[in-house]
Formats: sequence, C-alpha cells, structure tokens
Amino acid sequence: MTEKVRAFLSDTDEYRIAFETFLANTDQKVKARAWMDAQILQLPDTQLLVDAGAGNGELTKYLDDRFDSVIAIDPNPYLLEDLKVDCPDAKTIEGGILAADVPPQSASLVVCSHVFYYIPPESWLDNLAQIAAWIRPGGRAWIILQCADTDCMRMRHFFDEQTFSLHPLREAFVAQHGDKFTATMHSIDSFITTKNLKDAYAIAEFMLNMLPLVSPPLQADLENYVEQYFAVSPTSYRFSCTQNVLELTRKD
Ligand SMILES: C[S@@+](CC[C@H](N)C(=O)[O-])C[C@H]1O[C@@H](n2cnc3c(N)ncnc32)[C@H](O)[C@@H]1O
Repeated sequence: MTEKVRAFLSDTDEYRIAFETFLANTDQKVKARAWMDAQILQLPDTQLLVDAGAGNGELTKYLDDRFDSVIAIDPNPYLLEDLKVDCPDAKTIEGGILAADVPPQSASLVVCSHVFYYIPPESWLDNLAQIAAWIRPGGRAWIILQCADTDCMRMRHFFDEQTFSLHPLREAFVAQHGDKFTATMHSIDSFITTKNLKDAYAIAEFMLNMLPLVSPPLQADLENYVEQYFAVSPTSYRFSCTQNVLELTRKD
C-alpha cells in the first residue's frame, strides 16, 4: 500500500460514513449521556439550555425536553435547519460563540460539546469567557473534548496532527475568573471496540480527519499503527476515546 490515507472534510459523505462507523463501535455517546442525565439532576433550575456549537442537534434533541427553553448556536445554517426539524421550539442563532447574542446570566446550562477543536487555540479563553458570561447564578457550563491522552490523540500526535487539552484552559480561566466561577475537570471513560481491522482502520482514519489532515500518512503506516497499538486479538481491536468535561459553575 503506497497510497496515502484519505483526507475528507466534515461536510462529505466519506466523513458521514466514517462517523457512523465510529458511532456503531463506541460507548462514547452512551456514557456521555448517562453522565449528563445524572448531572442535570444537580442543577438548581432548568430554565434555559444553551447548546453552543449544536450542529445538527443530535445532542440538543436528547436534552431539550428537560429545559423550559433552548437556544442553539452554530455557524452552519444547513445543520441548524436539520436541528429545527427535531427541536422546532429551539431558538437558533447562526454564527459563532463569540458573536452570539445570548442574554447575560440567563443559562441554567451551557453545553459546548466537541466544538473547541474548530476554534483557534488563541481564542479559546475568549470563547470560554463568553460562555461563562451566559451562566446564571448556580448554573453550569460543560466544555466537552476528547482527552489529550487517549489512544486516538496519541495516534494523532504520532502522525503530527494537532492535539488538544482543556487543562491549560482551565488554569488560565481560573486565574482570570476564579472569583466568580468554580472550574472542575471531569473525565468520562470511553472506548472504541471493533471486531475487525477494517472498522478499526476506518475509525482511526476518521480520528485523523477531525480537522483537515495536514500530512496524510501512508495507508500502510496507519494500518501498521492500528495493528501494533489497538489489536487485542485478530478479532478484537480496542482504543480509548475518553472525554474531558470542563465544568464551570457560577458562584451564587
Ligand atoms: C463535531 S460538531 C459537534 C456537534 C454537537 N455539539 C455534538 O456534540 O454532537 C462541531 C460543531 O461546532 C460548530 N462550530 C465550529 N466553530 C464554531 C464556533 N466558533 N462557534 C460555535 N460553533 C462552532 C460546527 O459548525 C459543528 O456543527
């Protein structure tokens, strides 16, 4: 195999099919939802949910009937159209987090799930401060990203692709806003488990394509990597995709 790994963008059929393979072989979404279900019970009220970077509304739809009202923010108008089908009562704001006009201190919960990958690191703190400004007293925000030390992120690092960590962001935020907010890091253990190399390879390729691939490796090198690090047996491949949740709570 002298061919390179495919590079595909998030609005393509290749990405959609790879994402479906990921969803069919991971416990990541089920675990995250169970975690959220338990945490929502701890909120002092459930007046307003803000979903920042809501995409097509898969998660919004799961959460929206627990809240009196919902605001969904996303720069992609086509995804917001899909969201409107499942969440017709949600108010949608087309644009990025920094430009979104959400009333200050109005949100019982802000969810920002798997969005910060797409925000330049130098803007992370401004985006987090904007999200924090929307939280009402006692309310919370959850910034969710894959942990820096998962098998998937180690693979991205090995192939010289960008990796991410919420820990420095938490520290920078506390230094500036620690008088008004607590900032706690949680992790939700999750794995990808497949029965064959083909699916493990497809998901590894998907993880390399989270952002536009900078330097696609040879397919043979990715396959070797999957065999070396993810194979448990010829009929079992297992690799971690644990998520971090940076939870902000506005002090009363
Ligand atoms: C991987 S999807 C996550 C969708 C959903 N939150 C979830 O967890 O399933 C990332 C979304 O972030 C959106 N996005 C990218 N940059 C953004 C920004 N600056 N502000 C808000 N959303 C953004 C993209 O349009 C995309 O819909």
